[in-house]
Amino acid sequence: MRVLGIETSCDETAASIVERDAAGHATILSNIVRSQLDEHAPYGGVVPELAARAHVSHLDHIIAKAAEAAGVKLSEVDAVAATAGPGLIGGVLVGLTTAKAIAAALNKPLVAVNHLEAHALTARLTDGIAFPYLMLLVSGGHSQFVLVRGVGDYERWGTTIDDALGEAFDKVAKLLGLGVPGGPHVERTALGGDPHRFAFPRPLLNQDRLDFSFSGLKTAVRLAAEQHAPLTDQDVADICASFQRTVAEIVAARARSALERYAAAFPGEPRRLVVAGGVAANKAIGAALREAAAGSGAQLIVPPIPLCTDNGAMVAWAGAERLALGATDALDIAAKARWPLDSADMGLDHAA
Ligand code: KG4
Ligand code: ZN
Repeated sequence: MRVLGIETSCDETAASIVERDAAGHATILSNIVRSQLDEHAPYGGVVPELAARAHVSHLDHIIAKAAEAAGVKLSEVDAVAATAGPGLIGGVLVGLTTAKAIAAALNKPLVAVNHLEAHALTARLTDGIAFPYLMLLVSGGHSQFVLVRGVGDYERWGTTIDDALGEAFDKVAKLLGLGVPGGPHVERTALGGDPHRFAFPRPLLNQDRLDFSFSGLKTAVRLAAEQHAPLTDQDVADICASFQRTVAEIVAARARSALERYAAAFPGEPRRLVVAGGVAANKAIGAALREAAAGSGAQLIVPPIPLCTDNGAMVAWAGAERLALGATDALDIAAKARWPLDSADMGLDHAA
């Protein structure tokens, strides 16, 4: 089956056509992403209203490009999938409404996809892995461990109680006067810095839970920057390197605990940790996670970065996985700003 996937929940306008064969094998026929980075850059962050308007302006064209690149007419797809939440509600509405219109006009089933589920199932698209597995989602909006038991079957084991990890990178970059998005700038700047010059706090790490907290760390970075102002380039590099080392250690320590819990819950099962979200691109965090996984006897799976960040292929794939199990949605399904993965309406029996 071929599924068109539409993603508009944040600042990427994306569309893709993915094919899933009867054995569950995936082929990405096209994957078109238009980033709105330049539109939001002057404001230092994503402006929801601007994002929604940009999605309106570009989505039709991005979908046409996805069809053309795949060599498939829209009338030849078997279903239309779109992110229905969580995310910036204006953008989600644009994508979901467009998907409904295409589905209605072409008489195709609609699949309303949870954006977090799309991230969670990406490792099955790229690596064909079986259930269950553990996912760490670290993006600009989310930092969470999720047990993935099956399609529609998730258990959140931990989340951030304040900032998301990507958000912490973005805020640190902003207060140090680096560019947007912050993560890649902090990582690049950290290359020339001393990761041990500053000892930043590790909130919650002494507690027996799998949650994160990054806002205190961000405050500590701000205080250090104020204390040493005016900052030399070396100071900035040292702060970036020390911040990055600290978050890498926090994430790795949490991953170790999560894998311990996983091993206890699934004795005898292969241990797999899947990383998703834009922060997965960070090499220091990747190295710390690799070490943590190896120490816990687990396989670390990091999909190619363009499939870790927001894209239409993951939405098409999640749509295909749900469709293969007979789950489609009614055309009156609502967009949701909030939609936790472990909420009751994630299950397959809630579909139309
Ligand atoms: O998944 P994503 O593209 O968008 C969503 O948030 O949904 O993630 C973007 C986030 C931003 O906060 C960005 O600063 C962060 O991922 N990021 C990174 C790196 N590349 C992107 N953080 C740390 N190191 C990186 N190399
Ligand atoms: Zn995302």
